[in-house]
Amino acid sequence: MNLRLDALVTEKIVSARFGDAGAADIGGYEASGGYRAIRKIFGQTGPKDVIEIVKASGLRGRGGAGFPCGLKWSFVPDMDGPKYLAVNADEGEPGTFKDRELMLRDPHQLIEGILIACYAVGIEKAYIFIRGEFDAPARSVNKALAEAYEAGYIGENILGSGFSCDIYTHMGAGAYICGEETGLLESLEGKRGHPRLKPPFPAIVGLYGRPTVVNNVETLSNLSHIIERGADWYAGIGIDEKNTGTRMYCVSGHVEKPGLYELPLGLTLEEIVDGHCGGMRGGKALKAVIPGGASAPVLTTKEIREDKIRMDFDALARAGSMGGSGGVIVMDETTCMVQAAQRLALFYEEESCGQCSVCREGTGWVAGIFSRLENGRGVPDDLGTLESIDVNMRGNTICVLSDACAMMFGAFVKKFRSEFEAHIEGGRCPLGSPYPA
Ligand SMILES: Cc1cc2nc3c(=O)[nH]c(=O)nc-3n(C[C@H](O)[C@H](O)[C@H](O)COP(=O)(O)O)c2cc1C
Ligand code: SF4
Repeated sequence: MNLRLDALVTEKIVSARFGDAGAADIGGYEASGGYRAIRKIFGQTGPKDVIEIVKASGLRGRGGAGFPCGLKWSFVPDMDGPKYLAVNADEGEPGTFKDRELMLRDPHQLIEGILIACYAVGIEKAYIFIRGEFDAPARSVNKALAEAYEAGYIGENILGSGFSCDIYTHMGAGAYICGEETGLLESLEGKRGHPRLKPPFPAIVGLYGRPTVVNNVETLSNLSHIIERGADWYAGIGIDEKNTGTRMYCVSGHVEKPGLYELPLGLTLEEIVDGHCGGMRGGKALKAVIPGGASAPVLTTKEIREDKIRMDFDALARAGSMGGSGGVIVMDETTCMVQAAQRLALFYEEESCGQCSVCREGTGWVAGIFSRLENGRGVPDDLGTLESIDVNMRGNTICVLSDACAMMFGAFVKKFRSEFEAHIEGGRCPLGSPYPA
C-alpha cells in the first residue's frame, strides 16, 4: 500500500471560517469566497460532470458509513418527477459534536453544498433534518436560508441558470434512530422514526416513495471547496486515494485539550491524542479509545501505541473498528471498562426502536447483564451469554443499530475480558458504579 505521508499536512477546509465571527452572515460568507462555487457551475457545468468531479475527489460520507458521495449520487435514476435531498443533521451518535458547529458557524457553506448536490442530481427540494435539541444551530441555518433566498441563491431560476431549488428545515424530536437514513425519511414524512428494510435503498425509493439522496452535514460542507479548488486538490489531501480530504474529529474524554479538530484523513490516533490534543490528562496512561462514535469498536493501548492505527476509513476497518461519525472518546487508566460498556449499552437499550425482536430484546439483555456485572452481581455464565447474544444481534435486523450494539459490547468483552472476570470474581466494581442496576 502506498501511504502518502506528505499529504498529511494541510490547511483546514470546512472549519476554515470558524474563527471568523462574520462568516455566518451572508456578507461575511461572500467576502470570504462564498457562493463562488455555484456561480462557477450553475449553467456552466453539466450536472453529470459535477458528479464526476465529486467522484474524482474521493469524498466519502462523513455521517457514518463512509460511502463514496459521488457514487451514491450516481445511483439516483434519471427520471421525471420529484427527487429529494435529505440532509442528515440529526447528529445523535454519542461523542459526536461537529455538525452542530458547522451549522452554527458556517451555515452558508452547508447551503452552498446542498445547492451543488441538488444541481448535480437534478433535485429541486431539500430538507435539512436537524436534531431537536439544536436550537442555536437551527436558528443560524434558518437565518442563513432567509438571507440566501433574499440574495437569489435559493428559489426560482437561481442566478439565471434555469435551475430552481427550495430548502426547508425540519426539527427532529429527540430519537437517535431518526439519524438512520430511512428512519429519518419516515420521520420527515410525519410518521414514527422506524427504519425501513433495505433494499430498496433511498436513492431509488426514498422520501414519499421518490428517489432521495441522504447526506450528512459535513459531507455536504466539503462540496463548495471541491468545486472551487478542484477534485485533484482535494484528492491530494489524505493518506491514500481512497481516504481523501479532512475529517472533523470530535475528541472527548481524558485528554488535555478535548475539542473539535479538523485534520487530514490518515493521521495515527497517537498523533491526534499526543500531538493535537496535548496528550493524556494529568499525564495518566492511555487505556482505550473509541475512534468513531459509540458504535465503533473500542481500540486498546497496544493497537494505538504499538500498531499505530491510522484514523482513516480503511485502516480502521482493517483493525475491526470504523471511522463512523468522527467521535473520538479517549479513556485513561482510571476508566472502568465494564462501566463504560454499561453506559453505552443503556444508550442502545433506550434508543432501539423496537421493531426487531433481536434488537428490542437483545439491547435490553445486554444492558441488564452489564448493569449486573458492574454492580457486583455478575455470574460466570454472563460472558458466555453475552457471546451468544452478540452472534444473534448481527445481520438479522432491519437496520444496523443492533449490529452496532453488538460490535460495541463484543469488542469491550473480547479486549478487556480480564476486567469483566474481575468484576465477577470480586463481586464488585473496583471503582464503584454510579449507575444502579
Ligand atoms: C442508528 C444510526 C444512527 C445514525 N445517525 C446518524 C446521524 O445522526 N447523522 C448522520 O449523518 N448519519 C447517521 N447515520 C448514518 C446514516 O444512516 C447515513 O448513512 C448518512 O446520513 C449518509 O450520509 P453520508 O453518506 O453523507 O455519510 C446513522 C446510522 C445509524 C444506523
Ligand atoms: S435494528 Fe433495532 S433500531 Fe433498527 S429497526 Fe430493528 S429494532 Fe429498530
